[in-house]
Amino acid sequence: MKFLHEFLLLLILAFAIFELVQAQDQTEFISLDCGLVPKDGSYREKLTNISYKSDADFIDSGLPGKINDTYTTRFQQQVWAMRSFPEGQRNCYNFSLTANKKYLIRGTFLYGDYDGLNRPPSFDLYIGPNKWTSVSILGVINGSVHEMIHVVTKKRLEVCLVKTGETTPFISSLELRPLNNNTYLTQRGSLIMVARVYFSSTPSFVRYDEDVHDRTWVPYLDNKNSVLSTDVSVNTDNFYDVPQPVAKTAAVPANRSEPLKIDWILDDITAQSYIYMHFAEIQNLDEANDTREFNITYNDGQAWFSYFRPQNFTITTIYNPRAVSSPNGNFNFTFAMTGNSTLPPLINGFEIYKVLDLEQLETDQDEVSAMVNIKTTYDLSKKVSWQGDPCVPRLYRWEGLNCSYPPSKAEPPRIISLNLSGSNLSGTITPEISKLTQLIEIDLSNNDLSGGIPDFLDTMNLLKIINLSGNPKLNNNSVPIYLQKKIDSKILTLIRDETRKKSTSSPVAAIAASVAGVFALLVILAIVFVVMRRKQKNNEAPGSRSVTAGTVKSDTRSSSSSIITKERKFTYSEVLKMTNNFVRVLGKGGFGTVYHGNLDDAEVAVKMLSHSSAQGYKEFKAEVELLLRVHHRHLVGLVGYCDNGDNLALIYEYMANGDLRENMLGKRGGNVLSWETRMQIAVEAAQGLEYLHNGCRPPMVHRDVKTTNILLNERSQAKLADFGLSRSFPVDGESHVMTVVAGTPGYLDPEYYRTNWLSEKSDVYSFGIVLLEIVTNQPVIDKNRERPHINEWVAFMLTSGDIRSIVDPKLMEDYDKNCVWKVVELALACVNPSSNRRPTMPHVVMELNECLALEIQRKQGSQDTYTKDNSVEFSISSASDFAPRAR
Ligand SMILES: *[C@@H]1O[C@H](CO)[C@@H](O)[C@H](O)[C@H]1NC(C)=O
Ligand SMILES: *[C@@H]1O[C@H](CO)[C@@H](O)[C@H](O)[C@H]1NC(C)=O
Ligand SMILES: *[C@@H]1O[C@H](CO)[C@@H](O)[C@H](O)[C@H]1NC(C)=O
Ligand SMILES: *[C@@H]1O[C@H](CO)[C@@H](O)[C@H](O)[C@H]1NC(C)=O
Ligand SMILES: *[C@@H]1O[C@H](CO)[C@@H](O)[C@H](O)[C@H]1NC(C)=O
Ligand SMILES: *[C@@H]1O[C@H](CO)[C@@H](O)[C@H](O)[C@H]1NC(C)=O
Ligand SMILES: *[C@@H]1O[C@H](CO)[C@@H](O)[C@H](O)[C@H]1NC(C)=O
Ligand SMILES: *[C@@H]1O[C@H](CO)[C@@H](O)[C@H](O)[C@H]1NC(C)=O
Ligand SMILES: *[C@@H]1O[C@H](CO)[C@@H](O)[C@H](O)[C@H]1NC(C)=O
Repeated sequence: MKFLHEFLLLLILAFAIFELVQAQDQTEFISLDCGLVPKDGSYREKLTNISYKSDADFIDSGLPGKINDTYTTRFQQQVWAMRSFPEGQRNCYNFSLTANKKYLIRGTFLYGDYDGLNRPPSFDLYIGPNKWTSVSILGVINGSVHEMIHVVTKKRLEVCLVKTGETTPFISSLELRPLNNNTYLTQRGSLIMVARVYFSSTPSFVRYDEDVHDRTWVPYLDNKNSVLSTDVSVNTDNFYDVPQPVAKTAAVPANRSEPLKIDWILDDITAQSYIYMHFAEIQNLDEANDTREFNITYNDGQAWFSYFRPQNFTITTIYNPRAVSSPNGNFNFTFAMTGNSTLPPLINGFEIYKVLDLEQLETDQDEVSAMVNIKTTYDLSKKVSWQGDPCVPRLYRWEGLNCSYPPSKAEPPRIISLNLSGSNLSGTITPEISKLTQLIEIDLSNNDLSGGIPDFLDTMNLLKIINLSGNPKLNNNSVPIYLQKKIDSKILTLIRDETRKKSTSSPVAAIAASVAGVFALLVILAIVFVVMRRKQKNNEAPGSRSVTAGTVKSDTRSSSSSIITKERKFTYSEVLKMTNNFVRVLGKGGFGTVYHGNLDDAEVAVKMLSHSSAQGYKEFKAEVELLLRVHHRHLVGLVGYCDNGDNLALIYEYMANGDLRENMLGKRGGNVLSWETRMQIAVEAAQGLEYLHNGCRPPMVHRDVKTTNILLNERSQAKLADFGLSRSFPVDGESHVMTVVAGTPGYLDPEYYRTNWLSEKSDVYSFGIVLLEIVTNQPVIDKNRERPHINEWVAFMLTSGDIRSIVDPKLMEDYDKNCVWKVVELALACVNPSSNRRPTMPHVVMELNECLALEIQRKQGSQDTYTKDNSVEFSISSASDFAPRAR
């Protein structure tokens, strides 16, 4: 290290010509309060005036949580909430940034016993495919802050939390700050902050907005040093933008004749280090014979900088352009007066970093973007491992991928096989796959793909195996020319279902005719088995994929309710007997009266189709056709029907506790539905609807989702009723069908009403209205209200920022406010006038489940720590027509 002379140290001076300090605002900052709900929430932190927002747009996974309320007063708001990651090995935040720009990245972790386990976790932090650091939380209220300076080479940046043991990773806040490109230069790698210190006798941190880059400066003073300070403003205008509070104070030795000493130890003895020291003369040297001059040496007298004279009220930064290291990790710096100096040495601030080598290259960027597109095209967000870089680190490679890892570290990993078997893919085979040019093997079997075998497969030269089997809707007839040639010359294997005829002959015949050998035997056995099972247990549709083409997929979670024993066709006299001559009326539906009945010792509801009903018969047939095929825990089951000339009847399982609307209104007696019960009902109804949209083949639109169509059984399980208006619509081609507009005013999707185009998003709209009713217990339309329609009224009331103004007062504020916000926000997304911007039902189910979990967690946890007045205050950005609550 003897070669290190002062000429290797660069001196950065502030130049008077740059005296105009550019006012820098935080517009380029990314400040995430992780786990902040609602997900478009934001606020201005009181101490720093930094504007934090929720992290929801930057990550797909994790659960929001918050620290134990008893600690909140001690900390700034950005650490009150956090996001934890109980699922998956690696969970990643994803940012879109400017390529080749330098950022300061800061993760803050405050455990605060958010999970009530009193067990501070440990886990790893990654930057892209490279490990950044290990995070080890030392105590319940020991915060941990990790900061690095990193040049973003691509437009994308991923920050990942990786589970390393039993404990669950979490993060409280994540902040990104752009830095000047020409500061903190390294020969290679990024910089991990070890310390950033200034000298002050007051124990206050310095950060934004005194530091325009929002670096955090920690005050430091030991008994060997004392503080010098000035009121005069210091010229800090070199590239490093040292904040005024740092520049205006300095350390000098307590004993003038002693040198100034600073030392530290890096636990990683192999670490390469960069050290930045900031100096300014902050004493008036008006007497001509006063001089401050000193030598800086380190580790037993090695020269760092000699004869240094701090500039008069002007910052000079000294740093080493080449990394240094110390064999034992110790760094001892000595600042000693030179012979001509009349004043002791001084220093205003310094920063210590160690180099993080970014050895692992990311996967080929075109392939990464192809994978990301495949993920979105087929909505594979449920794949927990599909986060971060697809191939690296190898340990966290995306499930279903295989990659090649070139031995030379200069080349990126490439994707060589893709297995998406049984991943619920639907639609056509995406051309994005062709961008995976190194693919050898591709398995798309057992999905619901449609369309044909795409031509682009021809261009993928390395392909050896293509598996397209188990995609009943895929048209296998035409194989691209070159593909066929490769198959013929046995270079490539294509596995596919045998071509089926378009005719509607029985599936047994079709399959028996097309397969051969043992396999055929197995399939036939399976069919026989299925058919037999079906005879015995008719409430379940067959489960084997090979015979389900065109029929409804079975749901293993389907109802086990004892009354659904058989699908049956009844005679009118049986109906008379069942209902005891229609003695007890349960209610009147759109198509007729519903009577109570008894069938095989079980109660049933018998809906008689009124003779006057205009499209009666058609609706009846539609409902029978559908309901006999659809079975799901959260859909009201059809027990049987009667089709005797003019007498049409549907016999349903009996829902003892009536509909949601009357329960909400208290017409059923009993208690007010608690928030938890409401959430439970919402989740269940949403699951029923999700099944109609995604579980059925072909998918169905309910078309009349409303609170009176959500029924509760004796155990208050919710089920969706009334498929009278449901109509199958095709999946292929158009995503919606023209139909006669039907539905209930107030619940009707305005886009559907206007355009007459029906899609499942119309149900999402109606479901949003249901959610608003669940929260508010207000009528959907009320002409006497400021805003008659419920969604306009909610949006109007929320301009005050106070959720309580809309929540059903009967709940007596016994709910998790964050959860209510989340539901309201979700509901408003569902009723977005543009159907494209509404969420899908799986998303709705997920959000509601999260909310239910929050509520259950709250109920299980001590109620009194979540005192209503102390709960997190937050505001919503104006983008959704809300204004933050005035403080
Ligand atoms: C906070 O920042 C905003 C804009 O960045 C500014 O208008 C406001 O005056 C600041 N408030 C304080 C207390 O500094
Ligand atoms: C990262 O986010 C961008 C938009 O912010 C998105 O386009 C991209 O698909 C995301 N990448 C991954 C891997 O999720
Ligand atoms: C920043 O500097 C690097 C080299 O040091 C250069 O490659 C890059 O283009 C610069 N980026 C910007 C935004 O100026
Ligand atoms: C919060 O901390 C207090 C005191 O340590 C404890 O009694 C309480 O149970 C905690 N609350 C939760 C929700 O864990
Ligand atoms: C500065 O010089 C004056 C005379 O020129 C002398 O009296 C004084 O002691 C000197 N001060 C110091 C600190 O050397
Ligand atoms: C640095 O100083 C410490 C004591 O502060 C001493 O133990 C250590 O040996 C010194 N290291 C070097 C490299 O001089
Ligand atoms: C140092 O700066 C102060 C104020 O900026 C000035 O009064 C003084 O004369 C300067 N001294 C020298 C030696 O430049
Ligand atoms: C200061 O450093 C120079 C060059 O390294 C050296 O010649 C000189 O003796 C040093 N002075 C003191 C007081 O240490
Ligand atoms: C001290 O100052 C005198 C006069 O300015 C100069 O000649 C001499 O070289 C200086 N000594 C050192 C060690 O810098």
